Amino acid sequence: MRLFIGAAVAAGVMLAGFVAQAEPIKIKFSHVVAENTPKGQMALKFKELAEARLPGKVVVEVFPNSQLFGDGKVLEAMLLGDVQIAAPSLSKFNKYTKKLQVFDLPFLFKDMDAVEKFQNGPKGQELLNSMEKKGLIGLGYLHNGLKQLSASRELRSPVDADGLKFRIQTSDVLAAQFEAVGATPLKKPFSEVFLLLQTKAIDGQENTWSNIYSKKFFEVQDHITASNHGLIDYLVVTSAEFWQGLEDDTRKVLKASMDEAIAHGNKIAAEKVNSDRKRIADSGRSKILDLSAADRAKWVEAMKPVWAKFSDEIGQDLIDAAVASNN
Ligand code: SIN
Repeated sequence: MRLFIGAAVAAGVMLAGFVAQAEPIKIKFSHVVAENTPKGQMALKFKELAEARLPGKVVVEVFPNSQLFGDGKVLEAMLLGDVQIAAPSLSKFNKYTKKLQVFDLPFLFKDMDAVEKFQNGPKGQELLNSMEKKGLIGLGYLHNGLKQLSASRELRSPVDADGLKFRIQTSDVLAAQFEAVGATPLKKPFSEVFLLLQTKAIDGQENTWSNIYSKKFFEVQDHITASNHGLIDYLVVTSAEFWQGLEDDTRKVLKASMDEAIAHGNKIAAEKVNSDRKRIADSGRSKILDLSAADRAKWVEAMKPVWAKFSDEIGQDLIDAAVASNN
């Protein structure tokens, strides 16, 4: 009996030692923007919350500025298990689903409240799971904000863009949008934009105030048109294999941490619309043009025909639901 108890105690000690030494779950979170952005801050908040709530059980490593993976590679890397969380712009999922292109349609949302309403509504929530069969699960949407046009010359009306080269994200809708105004779109990774602008290999680009400020695009673009013509928001995404392989309790805590981190990032996004625009204006490096209603109407007229070209791919039901969110 004494021998048996001794053996049981020894086994218990060994097991405790084994449990104590169990490796924490490593979560690599890769993104392409700077840390002083909504996404950069959201990723750090997620790390803080997840590690505090699951001490010793998870370690979150955040890689900003395309340090680990750039735009083109991150989703492939996720499916190979080399990264667990990313939050690519909604314009970068073309290879996996055409439906998310709804977010790229020019002049679709009148403001960020409409975006929020659509994302939280039934159609928006359905889209979170639109890539599950391809092995990707959407954990939530994160805001950045509405896009502005920047260029080497003033863009007051669509004819001003005629003949210019614009960098775009990897979305066919965005390509069609620039073609509609006689410009040439070039699909290039975010990490290359500054150099392309600086060397004048391209003439312009479209982005949010936060990205234009944090990546210093305003230092190499003489003009920014406050066009609010489109959206850069993110899908926080993970691999189905990783997510479904977690213990239920761990998954719950990680999801709650992500929801809070997203709320934190969204608050920062809302603040940055004004603060980063002001920083750019104060720098005096780039002239900001606010469009009159009449000039804005010309851009809408030129770009809106793009909707019809993509309605089959995207689904008219999604477009209708997005439009309805403006009411
Ligand atoms: C991002 O905000 O993640 C990048 C957007 C872009 O590629 O322009």
